[in-house]
Amino acid sequence: MRIDIISVVPDLLASPFEHSIMKRAQQRGLLEVHVHNLRDFTPYKHGQVDDYPFGGGAGMVMMPEPLALAIEHLQQERKYDEVIFMTPDGICLEQKIANNLSLKENLIIICGHYKGIDQRIREHFITLEISIGDYVLSGGELAAAVVVDAIGRLIPGVLNDETSALSDSFQDDMLAPPVYTRPADFRGWKIPEILVCGDPKKVDAWRYEEALKRTQERRPNLLGAHED
Ligand code: ADE
Repeated sequence: MRIDIISVVPDLLASPFEHSIMKRAQQRGLLEVHVHNLRDFTPYKHGQVDDYPFGGGAGMVMMPEPLALAIEHLQQERKYDEVIFMTPDGICLEQKIANNLSLKENLIIICGHYKGIDQRIREHFITLEISIGDYVLSGGELAAAVVVDAIGRLIPGVLNDETSALSDSFQDDMLAPPVYTRPADFRGWKIPEILVCGDPKKVDAWRYEEALKRTQERRPNLLGAHED
């Protein structure tokens, strides 16, 4: 999978994909992340990419021309499955969306800044608008990093143990159960005995019950999510 991110602060995205699982995904040739500086595409003087909003009001708006030129430049090179805009008024990122996007070949992600981007770009170029939650960030870069991480780890071959993404929270509309590691007795706090009983079926049943209990307590809304 190839992901092209267009940003006015590309330095913000210099490090998030250079570590851990995202680094491994790229080293294995399963993921390519390219970050582009929007200012490289502006036809205006001094790298201008924003301007005052028509009708007045506070804040600046990202101009349509640099964004259109950046997107078209990429689209001339290859076909993209989605042109994604990170915005607090997009659809809220969920595991199902990440699962779906992890099957795509090429994605463009646009990071917004200031008061947002000119509406005509949203209407004529953007195919998917994603929010990472009901709060406002100073820009779309950190949100884009979240999306790339959430989908990158799902690309087949990225995680060593293929089942480990399947047992994540949310994959089956449930939160993940508690986990424990050594020592079995830490400051007198002992792990549940069943985890060392040696019977994988019993362990699985315990994990399922704990996941259900945790979901009922913390996120009961998830439990009905697959029933229409
Ligand atoms: N840009 C600013 N806030 C955002 C959010 N919550 N999600 C996605 N992009 C954003």
